[in-house]
Amino acid sequence: MDTVRVGIIMNGVTGRMGTNQHLVRSLTAIRAQGGVVLADGRRAMPDPILVGRNAGKVEALAKTHGVARWTTDIDAALANPDDAVYFDSASTGLRAQLIRQAIEAGKHIYTEKPVATTVEDALDLYRRAERAGVRHGVVQDKLWLPGLMKLRMLIDSGFFGRILAVRGEFGYWVFEGDWQEAQRPSWNYRKEDDGGIIVDMLCHWRYVLDNLFGGVRTVMCVGATHIPERWDERGARYAATAEDAAYATFELEGGVIAQINSSWCTRVRRDDLATFHVDGTHGSAVAGLTECYLQPRAATPKPVGNPDIPQTIDFFGTWQKMPNNRTYDNAFKAEWELFLRHVVDGGEFRWNLLEGAKGVQLAELGLRSWAERRVLDVPPLDGVGVIYSA
Ligand SMILES: NC(=O)c1ccc[n+]([C@@H]2O[C@H](COP(=O)([O-])OP(=O)(O)OC[C@H]3O[C@@H](n4cnc5c(N)ncnc54)[C@H](O)[C@@H]3O)[C@@H](O)[C@H]2O)c1
Repeated sequence: MDTVRVGIIMNGVTGRMGTNQHLVRSLTAIRAQGGVVLADGRRAMPDPILVGRNAGKVEALAKTHGVARWTTDIDAALANPDDAVYFDSASTGLRAQLIRQAIEAGKHIYTEKPVATTVEDALDLYRRAERAGVRHGVVQDKLWLPGLMKLRMLIDSGFFGRILAVRGEFGYWVFEGDWQEAQRPSWNYRKEDDGGIIVDMLCHWRYVLDNLFGGVRTVMCVGATHIPERWDERGARYAATAEDAAYATFELEGGVIAQINSSWCTRVRRDDLATFHVDGTHGSAVAGLTECYLQPRAATPKPVGNPDIPQTIDFFGTWQKMPNNRTYDNAFKAEWELFLRHVVDGGEFRWNLLEGAKGVQLAELGLRSWAERRVLDVPPLDGVGVIYSA
């Protein structure tokens, strides 16, 4: 047999991320390219079953993308021993319970972030998965974005010298929903539905900082609900009970200071929806989602502050765009390929439920830092000593 079938139960696939990134850009694309090459030369071929609450919607999605199997019965899907993987991209609040159920059914787990809404729950999932001996992974897509991979390349090449600081700007204007439809789901803006930009984005910033610049050691975060009421998918006005902006500062292992603003209430005047400006002794770089601009020390202009004359330096013109010396695949697909290989071949998969729990931990501490108005330490969460304590 040259092909190994991997049955994947896809829950929440009718949602924005489920459909666009996971079904269309990842699994459908992987199927179209003939699967993923395994260590012994065979290929792993994903065989998804789409799960959703609304039969009409799931069936239509399956038809549109040539997927043969769909259901509204999650219990029956989990009971099928032919499907080895449970994938979850449904809304966050239901996730932990469904993952527990899937682990009990012996499924390998792959899930969107945040893996749970509390760090206890997130660690519980990790412990259970380890005890059950199932494989597990968490979506940490930003690590495979071309812009961040270019930053990684700069770090590995020694371009920066000693890295001093990282400034991240993330966000764009999310319409309120009255005079223009909102472009994100309304649950994102309701605390009671596990919305809020701190839980949403600090999970991402945790793995970006940990993997690129140094382990996160402290957090200081201020949130804000700038827009107190919005209009939902049906046009009904609702109270926005969750924060829609977060202004955070992190101290990293090795002394790097990182500041990241995340906001659904900002208008973009920068290279991309997310940018990371990294300053080092030998050079600086600004990465967006796809491109990265750099300025080595020898090409650094020498501005002199003088408010009496208009600026003479074209600052944007003093940066150099990094070339695309390789092709970059969709970031979600890149991680799916690694996970599929991990499911069949085994070996290490670093981006697992423990790493996911670290993201939830940072979000939780970010919320606490805001409530208590102070800098908080981020204790190590290596899982040692807690793995078998439940
Ligand atoms: N990795 C990333 O960059 C990224 C970006 C955005 C969102 N996300 C995460 O992806 C997840 C989904 O976000 P989204 O923006 O696609 O949301 P969405 O609202 O578009 O999709 C949510 C899905 O969950 C389903 N769902 C909701 N309530 C349900 C219930 N009671 N039972 C069964 N299914 C239910 C919905 O039908 C829908 O299919 C969230 O956890 C979010 O944090 C990740």
